[in-house]
Amino acid sequence: MRVMKNAHAPYSKFRVGAAILLANGRVFSGCNVENASYGMTNCAERTAIFTAVAELGPKIEIRAVAVTNDHGIACSPCGACRQVIYEFGPDATVFFQGADGPREAHIKELLPEGFRFQ
Ligand code: THU
Repeated sequence: MRVMKNAHAPYSKFRVGAAILLANGRVFSGCNVENASYGMTNCAERTAIFTAVAELGPKIEIRAVAVTNDHGIACSPCGACRQVIYEFGPDATVFFQGADGPREAHIKELLPEGFRFQ
């Protein structure tokens, strides 16, 4: 919720914040960063994950992901973010606002048959 305030969201006016918990206990956070070329937008979840990789390298293991937004509406990770979560957290639990209130789901529930090389 704290980093959500740093979002660059002039187009959607929808600020999102995400936090990831790693197996080593570290927590990283991220916000969405939009662009005038809309497709270049980076979601809060990927910002958090890429920040962790930049800081610690690629051997991170994501245990949990939490995502929130400033509209208080349902917001689960988009398809692209699910695939990126799966890359670093094939056993991760994802916490988000579902259609009927707060939800938690295993990443494999959100992304069946996700793609991995190993
Ligand atoms: N967004 C996220 O950052 N995470 C989500 O889980 C859903 C959507 C962002 C992308 C874009 O900046 C804005 O929300 C509207 O789609």
